[in-house]
Amino acid sequence: MIVVNRPSDQTLAMLYRGIMDNHKAFDLLTFGDLCVDLIVSGDDVRPQFGQVEKLVGDYTLEMGGSCSLFACQAARLGLRTAILGRVGDDSFGRLVVRRLQECGVDTRYVSVDPHVKTGLGIALCQDNDRAILTYMGTINVLQPGDVTGALLASARHLHHGSYYLHTGLLPGIPDIFRRAKQLGLSTSLDPNWDPQELWDANLAEVLPYTDILMPNEQEARFISHQSRLAEAVASFHTQGVRLVTVKLGAQGALVDDGQATLRRAVAPVSGGDSIGAGDSFDAGFLSGWLRDMPLKGCLDLACACGSSVASQVGGLAGQLRFLPQIHTDTSWYQSTKK
Ligand SMILES: Nc1ncnc2c1ncn2[C@@H]1O[C@H](COP(=O)(O)OP(=O)(O)O)[C@@H](O)[C@H]1O
Ligand SMILES: [Mg+2]
Repeated sequence: MIVVNRPSDQTLAMLYRGIMDNHKAFDLLTFGDLCVDLIVSGDDVRPQFGQVEKLVGDYTLEMGGSCSLFACQAARLGLRTAILGRVGDDSFGRLVVRRLQECGVDTRYVSVDPHVKTGLGIALCQDNDRAILTYMGTINVLQPGDVTGALLASARHLHHGSYYLHTGLLPGIPDIFRRAKQLGLSTSLDPNWDPQELWDANLAEVLPYTDILMPNEQEARFISHQSRLAEAVASFHTQGVRLVTVKLGAQGALVDDGQATLRRAVAPVSGGDSIGAGDSFDAGFLSGWLRDMPLKGCLDLACACGSSVASQVGGLAGQLRFLPQIHTDTSWYQSTKK
């Protein structure tokens, strides 16, 4: 595989040297929005009622779910990663568990629930756009009571990556993040898209317990109700967030610690879709941050992971297991001191 946006030598050296705290069973814990994605693509994938049958160009059936894709990328970068969730007693559920395990994710907290079907997303893709039909099933079955103190205490870091989709957990998230912080975990939150586009939920109650907030540009604006990105980022810091990363698609990303904004441009890639790019970005960033790497290196890893996934179809295919070739060009960075 060709890695277009390679991290620098220095970043790789730090990644391999990184100090890991082995006192906990896991580096990372996340909540599984466990489901499969059926991605149907072609020149004309628009369904036509009246019993019309259309032939399409291609399809891919793969594990989906932001947190699941995140967990796979994190495990592939060497973080000891566990996921809490449920699958149905069906072939899609077995596919999900197999994929997680193949990527190195610990599935001891994934149970089979015979009363629910595994979640399904059907994505119809044409002309760089897509329409998605989602059957929730196991995606939102977790309840706050499933997140025990013992589970939280087993990890160094808690990441939540599909805030608005986990409707079962949603009311309990502020308390879960508060408990995680009390138990000494660091926390990160990628809100991802709100399918209802309301953007209010109880996010304001979670932000004081969030070390790293990881939205894309549009999400940052909607959540903060600010039209300018700089003001959106500043408002998150005011609410208690330590670090904000903002994903900017083919324009790369930025990270802001309240003192300075560090930007990272990327060479645009094409040929894939955008499924899971942001989730692998999150995993790349945390794989550096949990090794105490400087923010520049974390952003470097994050963009390498995001752009690699963006260059392939589906959210798993482009994930980086290790970063094979070395690149020393650091001209992509632009740091703006405040
Ligand atoms: N077309 C692209 N070319 C190069 N890198 C990309 C492209 N799309 C995404 N990326 C990388 O993946 C990261 C996350 O993608 P993005 O689409 O912004 O996130 P999200 O999926 O959360 O909306 C970006 O910050 C960038 O580093
Ligand atoms: Mg995203």
